[in-house]
Amino acid sequence: MAGLSTPLSGMAMQKWINRFNNFSAADLAGNEDFWAGIRNGYKLKPDYINLENGYYNFLPESLLEGFINHVREVNYQGSYYMRTVQFDNKKNIAARLAAMAGCSVEELIITRNTTESLDMIIGGLHWSAGDEAVMALQDYGAMLEMFKLVAKRHGVVNKIISVPNHPASDEEIVTLYANAITTKTRLLMISHMINITGQILPVRKICDMAHNKGVDVMVDGAHAFAHIQYTIPDLHCDYYGASLHKWLSTPLGAGMLYVKKGKAEKIWPLLAEGDKDANDISRLNHIGTHPVHTDLAIANAIDYYTTMGADKKEARLRFLQKYWTDKVRNIPNVVVNTPVEAARSCGIANVGIKGMKPAVLAETLLKKYKIFTVAIDSAEANVQGCRITPNLYIMPQDLDVLVKALGELAGATS
Ligand SMILES: Cc1ncc(COP(=O)(O)O)c(C=O)c1O
Repeated sequence: MAGLSTPLSGMAMQKWINRFNNFSAADLAGNEDFWAGIRNGYKLKPDYINLENGYYNFLPESLLEGFINHVREVNYQGSYYMRTVQFDNKKNIAARLAAMAGCSVEELIITRNTTESLDMIIGGLHWSAGDEAVMALQDYGAMLEMFKLVAKRHGVVNKIISVPNHPASDEEIVTLYANAITTKTRLLMISHMINITGQILPVRKICDMAHNKGVDVMVDGAHAFAHIQYTIPDLHCDYYGASLHKWLSTPLGAGMLYVKKGKAEKIWPLLAEGDKDANDISRLNHIGTHPVHTDLAIANAIDYYTTMGADKKEARLRFLQKYWTDKVRNIPNVVVNTPVEAARSCGIANVGIKGMKPAVLAETLLKKYKIFTVAIDSAEANVQGCRITPNLYIMPQDLDVLVKALGELAGATS
């Protein structure tokens, strides 16, 4: 079974997944036969072990074939496609995403990525000079830059907190955000899963606290969607953005934006979209002609994800992270910048070595051990290490190489 050498077709992949339908997520998490089959669905570069899937979780071959077929079909139909079913198809696929996110179709649109989704909210709010926004040093750079822009443009005051890598409790984090809120605060941004460490924040508790103070909350879900299980309404947030080319494994350039019912009227669209009801979310969805075949490929990625099972995917990603972090947490000089508690992390973790610059660690991992990662070097955010993001094709033996490398490098620095 594990020896299959050519990537599995879409149909074969479905059959493979169906064969293991009777297994619970917990039982399947460490079933290497099953995951070897999933791995065979990918075409992997032999040059390195890719532990940097957090940027882009590239597609298994079956999804890639589906995408290429969509490109061919749209090209075949040309403007006919664009003038007939383009918008209906996009709406139907957005409805499938809404079902996956547990929200209403009137609350979700397909965008190109998290940056577009969240920067539209940040830039589109009706800011006045002196209004305040709250965010964290550990949030994603593009959004922090957008807040700087509205500070310059509208006189918004940005209050930036720092989230500890190893919080003692949810309350510690909620209090940090609560203390940054004043009567002038209009928006609070939080990461659902911090991109540089993988830490999961207690989103619902933060939202409830902020709402009690009359403040709306925007959540950056770039790394959470199709990674951990939740529904957006359950989080109690007002705005939520995610990139689908990350954990849902769509082709590059697919994202989504959730705007809670009744909140769309607060936002100026990025690009004008005719005369529509102020609360019609489609007001925020005008982007002109774009690669519509990418929209179509989202449906295939949802099929793949649901056929596998959200619970099975989350359990495996958690299993992989725990597999390697448990082996290195106690090695002297190794610093794991990700909380150990299951509720505070899943597939992503960050690891550094005392006395070694993250860039040097990343370079050594690649050159000496053939492991590809990304260096995160922010003394300000208190995160200095390499981010490790396995996707479903990564196997424990790949992570053994990482564990061995970290042990050797940590030993060499002592
Ligand atoms: C937390 C977080 N937010 C936003 C983004 C931006 O995603 P995109 O480039 O797909 O817009 C990223 C990308 O890595 C991220 O990690």
